[in-house]
Amino acid sequence: MSTLLTNIGELVTNAPPGDQGGQGAGPFAAMAGAALVIEAGQVAWAGPASRAPAADEVVDAGGRVVLPGFVDSHAHLVFAGERSAEFAARMAGRPYRAGGIAATVAATRNASDDQLRANLRKLAAEMLAQGTTTFECKSGYGLTTADERRSVSLAAEVTADVTYLGAHVVPPEFDGDPAGYVELVCGEMLTACAPHARWIDVFCEQGAFGPDQAAAVLAAGTAAGLQPRVHANQLGHGPGVQLAVAAGAASADHCTFLSDADVAALASSATVATLLPGVEFSTRQPYPDARRLLDAGVTVAIATDCNPGSCFTSSMPLCIALAVREMRMTTEEAVWAATAGGARALRRADTGHLGVGAPADLVMLDAPSHTYLAYRPGVPQVAAVWQAGHLVPKAATAGPVGPGLPGGVGPGR
Ligand code: NIG
Ligand code: FE
Repeated sequence: MSTLLTNIGELVTNAPPGDQGGQGAGPFAAMAGAALVIEAGQVAWAGPASRAPAADEVVDAGGRVVLPGFVDSHAHLVFAGERSAEFAARMAGRPYRAGGIAATVAATRNASDDQLRANLRKLAAEMLAQGTTTFECKSGYGLTTADERRSVSLAAEVTADVTYLGAHVVPPEFDGDPAGYVELVCGEMLTACAPHARWIDVFCEQGAFGPDQAAAVLAAGTAAGLQPRVHANQLGHGPGVQLAVAAGAASADHCTFLSDADVAALASSATVATLLPGVEFSTRQPYPDARRLLDAGVTVAIATDCNPGSCFTSSMPLCIALAVREMRMTTEEAVWAATAGGARALRRADTGHLGVGAPADLVMLDAPSHTYLAYRPGVPQVAAVWQAGHLVPKAATAGPVGPGLPGGVGPGR
């Protein structure tokens, strides 16, 4: 069964030169008046509509834009409870601090597997409805061996990109003994979590983990077969980015406060700078300087950081709009960063582009061009989503949004 999607006003492909899907995304690339053929769940052909081959089924895009599905390379979706009061207090003038995480840890530990699963699936459906076809999901709100293990195994039910974040903060029962907690994270907890995860992450920041502790966590994770990524330089200048680069991390995430040496280190490495503008929006911090990074030759990704504390949006379109308006990215750069950039941050060659042979993960907007993502901020423009060639049914994606009930999680669907 093949499907021809034709009369596409703009087709963003990010296809690599030679159009071979296997080698990963190329630079931003788009064509007008295009068509695309889906077969066996993959992109089988893309090019000018006038030269499109025949197919079993034809879908008329009506001049709309079609893009690769968004790749959200940073999200914390396994949690219970919500922190809207903390958000309101922040908007009333209180600063964001890492300590709020403890409230979510308490709620998460008290939740049943089914409650956590229901909240996770609701958020995953919410993402898909907004065009996100690939996402990463972290643990980090359990912080005991049993709670981290169940967090990574629940995350593995919904994504291949699971990140073990036992080193999110030091939990209250280890107050005064951070070294003891790092030992647990690098020992028994890692052994329990590694079979369910692909990545290891650490929050390297004042109030979380220092550089030596963070380096120990990444080294232990790497020895256990996980690949490193780092929460770096979110709340202030610090060693996180340098640590990420030294560890060969796939990504340094946040990058809000960077020295010239940090930018140079990123530019001369394979570490992607993943910017999370929803966090700055929701914490009223200054935005990271994407222009400075791009001009230095750094590979930039955009992700949501969807979590109940620092940023509770799952909307990649919002993050694109913020990146363009607030971080001086062009619309092409922002769309690339939210698709191909996210794929780079996850070291995934298969996604973030529509080269021949890539999975047919597509988003069609009720708009003529990708520019509308930033031009019409806050407007729901997603007209259709395909995941691995399957049209995602509207009913499956249009669920209730929001955190569910305070102190718990929303009902299962
Ligand atoms: O990426 N920075 C650390 N972790 C999250 C925040 C988690 C929370 O506040 O619950 C982040 O911003
Ligand atoms: Fe995060």
